[in-house]
Amino acid sequence: MAKLIDGRKIAENIRNEVADEVRRLKDRGVNPHLSVVLVGDDPASKVYVRMKGKACQETGIGSETLIFPESLSQDELVRTIRRLNADPKINGILVQSPLPRHLDEHAVIELIDPIKDVDAFHPYNVGKLAAGFTDGYLPCTPVGVQELLLRSGYSPEGKHVVIVGRSNIVGKPLGLILVQKAKGANATVTWCHSRTRDLPEITRSADILVAAIGQAEFITREMVKPGAVVIDVGVNRVPDEASDKGYRIAGDVAFDPVSEIAEAITPVPGGVGPMTIAMLLRNTVLACRRQHGIEKGV
Ligand SMILES: NC(=O)c1ccc[n+]([C@@H]2O[C@H](COP(=O)([O-])OP(=O)(O)OC[C@H]3O[C@@H](n4cnc5c(N)ncnc54)[C@H](OP(=O)(O)O)[C@@H]3O)[C@@H](O)[C@H]2O)c1
Repeated sequence: MAKLIDGRKIAENIRNEVADEVRRLKDRGVNPHLSVVLVGDDPASKVYVRMKGKACQETGIGSETLIFPESLSQDELVRTIRRLNADPKINGILVQSPLPRHLDEHAVIELIDPIKDVDAFHPYNVGKLAAGFTDGYLPCTPVGVQELLLRSGYSPEGKHVVIVGRSNIVGKPLGLILVQKAKGANATVTWCHSRTRDLPEITRSADILVAAIGQAEFITREMVKPGAVVIDVGVNRVPDEASDKGYRIAGDVAFDPVSEIAEAITPVPGGVGPMTIAMLLRNTVLACRRQHGIEKGV
C-alpha cells in the first residue's frame, strides 16, 4: 500500500515557520499584510477567500478582504488595484479568480505591482520563472507540490516527472519549477494535455506523476507505474446522495486502486490543497521582506 503524503501536516509545519518569521518581523516593527479582492458571489471563491483570511490571522499576518458586487466595473476594479499598489502598508495583493465575465482578468493581473504579486500570475513573475531568475515569486499550488515532494523525501532530481495538465496556474508553472537547473528541481519533465496521444503510455513512464486535470478519478491504476509517486492536484465535486451536501470531493486520481501500486500518494482533500494556502502565506512574508529590504532569517 502506498505511503500517504500528508499535506495537512506538511502545510502546518510551513505555517509554523511562517508564524515564527512573522513574529521576528513584528519585533522589528514590520507587519506583513495581504489584501484579497473578491468580486461577485461565486460560492467556492467565497470559501477560498475565507480560508485565506483565517490562515493569515492564525500566522499573525494582517489581512483584509475587499468584497465587491458582481456589477463592479473594470474602472472601479482598476482604481482599487492602483490604490492597493500605492499603499505601503500592503505587501501582497491577490485578486480571487474567476472574475465575472465582463471583467478583463489579464488586464487586472498586469496591473498588480509585481513586487506585491503573491499569486505570481503577473507576466513579470512568470517570465522570471521561465528565465530561471530566482528573485521573482513562484505560484502557490505548483511550488506547494514541489515542497510536498521535497518534505516527504521524494526529490524530483533526475526523475521523470509527468504532469497531466498545462494550465497557467498549475501544470505549466509546475513543469517550469521542476525543470530548473537548481537544487530540489533538476527533473526531466513531460507535460501532457487533452491532445496528447498515447497518454497512458506516457503516464506509465513517470517516476512522479502529477494529475492537474479537473476530471474526477481520471488517472486509473493502469496509467501508473508500480512504485511511482502520485500527486493529485484535482478538486472535483462528485454527486453523492449519501452525503448531506449531495456531493463529495474527489481528486483526479482513482485513489484506492492507485494506492495499491504507488510508492506514495496524496489524498484529496488533505494533500495539495493545504499547501496552496501555506505557500501564499510564505509569499506574503517574502513580499513584505522584499519591500522592507530585510534578508531572510533576520
Ligand atoms: N488544490 C489546489 O489548491 C488547487 C489549485 C488549483 C487547481 N486545483 C484543481 O486542479 C485541477 C486542475 O486545475 P486547472 O486550473 O489546472 O484546470 P484547467 O485550467 O481546466 O486545466 C486542465 C488541464 O487538464 C488537461 N486535460 C483536460 N482533459 C484532459 C484529458 N482528457 N486528457 C489529458 N489532459 C486533459 C487540459 O488540457 P488542454 O490544455 O488541452 O485543455 C488542461 O491542460 C482542477 O480540479 C482544480 O480544481 C486545485
